[in-house]
Amino acid sequence: MRPTWVAGAAMSRFGRLETTGREAAAAVALAALDRAGIEPGKVELTVVANAFGIAERQAHVGPLLNTALGIPQVPSFTVESACSSSSAALHEAFVHVAGGFQDVVLVVGFEKLSHLGTLAATSYFAMGADYPFESANGATFPGLYATIADAHARKYGTSSEELGAVAIKNHANGARNPHAHFQKEISLATYLASPVVASPLRLYDCCPFSDGAAAVVVAAAEAVPHPSAEPAVIRASARAGDVGDIHDRESMTSLAATQTAARAAFRQAHLEPREVQFLEVHDCFTIAELVALEDLGFFPPGSAGKATREGVTARDGTLPVNSSGGLKAKGHPVSATGAAQVVEVFEQMNGLAGSRQVPHAEVALTHNVGATGSSCSVHLFSRR
Ligand SMILES: CC(C)(COP(=O)(O)OP(=O)(O)OC[C@H]1O[C@@H](n2cnc3c(N)ncnc32)[C@H](O)[C@@H]1OP(=O)(O)O)[C@@H](O)C(=O)NCCC(=O)NCCS
Repeated sequence: MRPTWVAGAAMSRFGRLETTGREAAAAVALAALDRAGIEPGKVELTVVANAFGIAERQAHVGPLLNTALGIPQVPSFTVESACSSSSAALHEAFVHVAGGFQDVVLVVGFEKLSHLGTLAATSYFAMGADYPFESANGATFPGLYATIADAHARKYGTSSEELGAVAIKNHANGARNPHAHFQKEISLATYLASPVVASPLRLYDCCPFSDGAAAVVVAAAEAVPHPSAEPAVIRASARAGDVGDIHDRESMTSLAATQTAARAAFRQAHLEPREVQFLEVHDCFTIAELVALEDLGFFPPGSAGKATREGVTARDGTLPVNSSGGLKAKGHPVSATGAAQVVEVFEQMNGLAGSRQVPHAEVALTHNVGATGSSCSVHLFSRR
């Protein structure tokens, strides 16, 4: 494998898109290429992530996106891996570039579905679970993650205050992120007063339904002799899977796919968790951030909640987690999420994160989950 970089990355504001998803995707692709100092004509492959194109009645969007970029002759394909679609796309790009098949691959993830409203969006998302066994029986993602939160609370005593600490931290970070869906801080009182969505999860435990787009330019180091920005070196790209239904798993308090992908990523990168300086994890619900931190090896099982309450994972803590605001506050436009995590890494490593800049931004991890953990990607990055 040859040295492979994130040479550029950019995202739209998450929330409600006034343009089509495709237009937003083209805009972030051009912005990412501009940051990389790479002309669209240098792109040799476009990997698109767009799980719910059905919401815009549009499939096979790669050629349309490439046409908008002025490169209709460039091949493309779409990757679907539920909420981990664009990290799966990044993995494909990495394999193509590190393996020497292409020098420059464009990854673009986008989603536009907020116009559907909560009821329809919930039923679309439920297609990412096991439909006949889970969704058809009324299990939606808030309900499934509530089951995980309940099991975690029973086993480890995880409290509302610990879940709330994740929401308060991520809203504080989102308030400093101009790309974020929610740019407002919340207090513990606001969190505790918010309505229960699926017990024990409240409104502020949930990510919102967001539209948005994010793009990442993956390039061989040798193809970019004079990078315009500080590249994020891709040190590891690992994916894993697991049984789809949570009721068929050995544990409801951890995600085996995260553990497997993390082990593979740390092995590939020759790094250990203690060397990671900041990370973006998949906090679709607050409990998911705690479980992720435990499964990735940063905290022993059952202890991430206490560490979060103590400020360890705050922006100015010893291990900043979700400095972007995470899915909770930055938003979660499904197929844009994994790529947007990389945008945060790129901006932090280039000192572009403004008032949410973390103190040490040399080694980073991103963690992106599909559904309740049947798919997972873990990437490790470092500055040169
Ligand atoms: C939590 C949830 C049920 C709220 O939906 P809703 O009750 O229909 O909320 P609405 O869209 O009507 O918004 C009502 C208000 O709450 C706010 N809001 C909505 N979702 C929010 C969230 N997740 N966090 C904080 N505030 C939220 C809205 O901004 C709005 O505020 P306003 O009155 O000040 O304008 C919905 O966002 C949800 O299901 N989220 C989870 C999405 C999901 O499952 N994703 C996949 C993860 S695997």
